[in-house]
Amino acid sequence: MNSRERFHAALNCQPLDRPPIWVMRQAGRYLPEYRALKEKYSFLELAQTPELALEVTLQPLKRFDLDAAILFSDILVIPEALGQGYHFRDQGGIGMNYRLDTRDQIDVLDASAIKEKLSYVAQALKLISAELDGSKATLGFGGSPWTLATYMVEGGSSKNFERVKALFYSDRSSFNALMEKLVAALIDYFRMQVSAGAEAIQIFDSWGGIISGNDYYEASLQWIKQIIDAVRDEVPMIIYAKGTAPHIARQAATFPKAIAVDWTIPIQEAAKQVPANIAIQGNLDPVILDTTPEIVRQNATRILDAMRDRPGHIFNLGHGILPTARIENMEALVNTVVGYTG
Ligand code: CP3
Repeated sequence: MNSRERFHAALNCQPLDRPPIWVMRQAGRYLPEYRALKEKYSFLELAQTPELALEVTLQPLKRFDLDAAILFSDILVIPEALGQGYHFRDQGGIGMNYRLDTRDQIDVLDASAIKEKLSYVAQALKLISAELDGSKATLGFGGSPWTLATYMVEGGSSKNFERVKALFYSDRSSFNALMEKLVAALIDYFRMQVSAGAEAIQIFDSWGGIISGNDYYEASLQWIKQIIDAVRDEVPMIIYAKGTAPHIARQAATFPKAIAVDWTIPIQEAAKQVPANIAIQGNLDPVILDTTPEIVRQNATRILDAMRDRPGHIFNLGHGILPTARIENMEALVNTVVGYTG
């Protein structure tokens, strides 16, 4: 069984000798070859030039025996395609080129022609799946409507998220108008990714955990559900959310193919809340990759042991890999998973 087959078998909850492994933001700043490319090109140049996006996507796969490749891009290409560009702030974090302050600004966002505006993503995916040629799974992704809205309404990265929450609580009609545009754009975007070679799509609800638990469904999950309902028959969907361990059963009720969990819940407890035909992905704390190979092995083995008898496990970090991750630790992690014999 090759890597790609292993990935799909896990998504389909078939029993396996060991889970497949991939990591999020694997093309991150922890790799010297990525930093070298960043000396020459900006992030946007890398993401928007299909040949460079291909190269960055493959960098971690050349070093590590991972089972799936995730497209190199960003969730913020969707706001950009709608007319709200973004940049990286010098002090770190994201800045949007302006902030959504008024209903008029929401109404002029243009969710049409996503395929044309983001054709460079399709080109990159085509290059990636041609290069991998069935050996590894090719993953596409996008942000959840709620997580994208946090950046769009706050004007970038945020600490307390007061503006997007104020919009949700005090102007529901404008909030819903924004979410409807994002849902429409994301459905088109995911369909484009699938026709370009994406074999599964991960929705990143990175900020799903910042809204009151009472309102998580209304603010975030219902919009994810609309997307999943639209594309479920076309592609396996994976929900990733951070800080939403209390909502795992409700996420499962939207019937994604897999649920990716952060590190705040023991993975076997997450698995108990999910029907046997939905896979679980996770959930090593990325900070563990800053420690030592021995600590990495212990913590990875604990997850592997906990999931040994639960078909449908995809090994992953509980969030994206950090720039401070050590390469020897990433090696120890992959070797631990790939060499796992139960
Ligand atoms: O593995 C991969 O490389 C896949 C590509 C990928 C990136 N971003 C590339 C990237 C994926 C899947 C993302 C998702 C993404 N982007 C999310 C959801 C996942 C998560 O992390 O919660 C979010 C919230 C974003 C928005 C974003 N992009 C942030 C908050 C940042 C960090 C800004 C900072 O200064 O810390 C980015 C930058 C980014 N996206 C990098 C990469 C490799 C680092 C860019 C660099 O400095 O080279």
